[in-house]
Amino acid sequence: MKIGIINGPNLNLLGSREPHIYGTQTWDTFFIALKQRFHHIELTCFQSNIEGELVDAIQQSQQFDAGIINPGAYAHTSLAIADALAAISVPFIEVHLSNIFSREAARHVLYSAGKCKGTISGLGLEGYVLAIQYWEQHGV
Ligand code: DQA
Repeated sequence: MKIGIINGPNLNLLGSREPHIYGTQTWDTFFIALKQRFHHIELTCFQSNIEGELVDAIQQSQQFDAGIINPGAYAHTSLAIADALAAISVPFIEVHLSNIFSREAARHVLYSAGKCKGTISGLGLEGYVLAIQYWEQHGV
């Protein structure tokens, strides 16, 4: 099974970025452990701070069986990312580290989530683990 993970803006700063909200672990450290834990799954990760590059990555995700996306703030603003998710046949789960529904009202709006199979929010990096387990158990 091949799973593609797409992370949006500022997620490259995990570990140092507002650690009281996003935790202290860096993405690189987490991703190494993730690949070890799910060694039987081919995990690929792409991160960009640029909206169009995220759209390109979603369009190119046809090579995967399933996807996981954390669009960062673009979840709340980007019709282009929502349209890209709607345009492809590969199913995605949307993950947010923080509980977006306990934060500012602007974060309660999600353009992309409705184009995904489901959404996990507020469980930190564990959200990625749960999303992989979902694809593993339920297939696509
Ligand atoms: C986030 C939540 C977004 O509102 C925020 O802009 C982020 C991270 C999360 O993972 O909790 O960049 O997607």
